[in-house]
Amino acid sequence: MPLYRPPLIAPSEITPEAIYQQRRSLMQGAALAGLAAAMPPLQAAPLPTFYKSRYSTDEPRNSLTEVTSYNNFYEFGTDKGDPADNAHTLRTEPWTVEVSGEVAKARKFDLDSLLKLAPLEERIYRLRCVEGWSMVIPWVGLPLAALLKQVQPTSRGKFVEFTTLLAPEQMPGQKTRVLDWPYIEGLRIDEAMHPLTILAVGLYGKPLPKQNGAPIRLVVPWKYGFKSIKSIVRIRLVERQPTSSWTAAAPSEYGFYSNVNPEVDHPRWSQATERRIGEFLKRKTLMFNGYADEVASLYKGMDLRRNF
Ligand code: MTE
Repeated sequence: MPLYRPPLIAPSEITPEAIYQQRRSLMQGAALAGLAAAMPPLQAAPLPTFYKSRYSTDEPRNSLTEVTSYNNFYEFGTDKGDPADNAHTLRTEPWTVEVSGEVAKARKFDLDSLLKLAPLEERIYRLRCVEGWSMVIPWVGLPLAALLKQVQPTSRGKFVEFTTLLAPEQMPGQKTRVLDWPYIEGLRIDEAMHPLTILAVGLYGKPLPKQNGAPIRLVVPWKYGFKSIKSIVRIRLVERQPTSSWTAAAPSEYGFYSNVNPEVDHPRWSQATERRIGEFLKRKTLMFNGYADEVASLYKGMDLRRNF
């Protein structure tokens, strides 16, 4: 018996594995596209016109793939790839944000009315995560101050508390106990009113992908990334400093301020350097993530080791 039987088709007709896989996913894509045509659009409406902001960094941006596939959004799992895989179950329409508490004019905003509060701007910001990595992301958003001015905070509104949607059937991570749900964050009123603080509704010129906190999330570029709370449904003006989910989980590791500070280490690791996603060598972390000229004055006279 021959040890080698020639194939029944010519070698030139055999498709290499890689090309076979590529064709397969193309065909699956085509099948899905056919399906999508028959279904209502899943993608949010396009963003209104936006302007380029003078607050942007001119550093190279991370790619859309990096920005949308390496995420922290514990409502969808604790691995960096989990949000991209799982966030499709989040329903972002209809969506409202309730603004209440110490304000003269408490109000519920739908997304359309939020988008009309101020001209939208593209803001290219560095985001420094507490875990030691960073990215440069082209957000589209509006100053949080524009929303706060509408509701008129009273003199007792000294802090702002933000809350993410609570919906365990849409956010499977909320069925686990990794954090106390819903996710909560807070800012001092002057931090919230600062022109660098934005409510982001998009990135790379398109509505926010779900894994990045659709349809609306906070971005505070001089603080560690966890302050930038995603998928916000409530904003409350309060008299006392709110307790955030991370401070509640580990008060000695995550303080209220969480300003990026290379001189104050996390109890378990140094904060002096960071790895920009996509780069090999580490770079030095900058005070206030490089935004010291704009924000250092907010903390004049404060001991930043105690108020970490
Ligand atoms: N918001 C909610 N609701 N849940 C989260 O787990 N993770 C935070 C923050 N906002 C988080 C969240 C952390 S730790 C970071 S670093 C940033 O989102 C990441 O934002 P990005 O995935 O858009 O880069």
